[in-house]
Amino acid sequence: MRQVKMYRPQVPADALPRLKTILDRGWFGLGPETAAFEQELSALPEVGGHVVGVNSGTAALHLALYVSGVAPGTSVIVPANTFISTAAVVVQHGCHVVLADIDVSTGNIDTGHVRELLRNRNDISAVIPVHYSGIPCELAELNVIAAEYRLTIIEDCAHAIGAVHQGLPLRKYSNIRAYSFHATKVVPIGEGGCVTFPTEEMADRARRLRRLGIDSSQADWSSPYEIEELGFKYNMNDMAAVLGRSQLASLPQRIARRRDIIARYTRSVSSSDIWPVMPRRETDRTGAFAFSVRVEEHVRERVRRQLAEAGVQTEIYFKSLDSFRIGLNGAVPKARKFSKEVISLPVHDAMSDDDVDYVAEHLIGATAS
Ligand SMILES: Cc1ncc(COP(=O)(O)O)c(C=O)c1O
Repeated sequence: MRQVKMYRPQVPADALPRLKTILDRGWFGLGPETAAFEQELSALPEVGGHVVGVNSGTAALHLALYVSGVAPGTSVIVPANTFISTAAVVVQHGCHVVLADIDVSTGNIDTGHVRELLRNRNDISAVIPVHYSGIPCELAELNVIAAEYRLTIIEDCAHAIGAVHQGLPLRKYSNIRAYSFHATKVVPIGEGGCVTFPTEEMADRARRLRRLGIDSSQADWSSPYEIEELGFKYNMNDMAAVLGRSQLASLPQRIARRRDIIARYTRSVSSSDIWPVMPRRETDRTGAFAFSVRVEEHVRERVRRQLAEAGVQTEIYFKSLDSFRIGLNGAVPKARKFSKEVISLPVHDAMSDDDVDYVAEHLIGATAS
């Protein structure tokens, strides 16, 4: 029976000799490979900004909150439809999480609800919109809201390398952005991430803070380093950076292939009772990390089971954050409903068109039965 896995990290063949070179060099902690990876990411249309490599997307989000000066004790708006990291860092930073509801057609934060939350409380200092599965949020509007209410925006770009909003890559919106290079993501390096800042000054501070605050720039024999501000152990290492560097040349083709897969799925389900979760407009393009559909709540688990029996792995992106027993509450009925209807399907660049058709056929068959 055909097996279609959710993820299949693809590392180019030249990654192995490059890794061997690093191992032979005798140093594979934070070093020149990480610096080179940061420069290459900064030069990419898909990323840009002043880039700081870290050891996870979660660390990237936390460092972003810290360096942007979001004051502990204030509140931060987070969409309910996200991975726990987006809210966990807010709590770890000493802030309160305020859950925002979503637009079920995109899975993204509902800007109307963001405005309502801001009208009703005056303790909100930041918003962390998530580009769900790579579909861009209403970023232009969020930036207008942020200017009006003097909010910091930190974009959770864990899924969104390559996303385009209103014809422009995310870098053009000048916010702080946090990316993940986790094993499941579009650029998988095991564990890793990066945060991009609008200024080199912020990035320099983040580079110190990611390594416990250690500043080696003025090092001499008598004083190998100074610490002016205590930081975290969040630095990337050079082995991970080599894996990342080896994937950047083929990134545009891989994103294009993932978009083709999503377009093929979307065409297949177009005349069924399955609702694809999609960008809002032609000028918005997904970064194509994932593809989710919604089906009637009462058939969702049966459909997933039938897909599993046909060898097709699926996921639920995401359980609404208010459904965990960790005290995150909010009026988020649309996120709740979405989390009961959603099925996230396999998308990776090793999938053939036949694999996509196979998944779509079984999905449609299971939904109709
Ligand atoms: C939306 C979102 N934000 C943040 C993260 C955290 O990334 P990492 O696993 O690299 O810490 C993830 C990871 O899956 C994610 O899906």
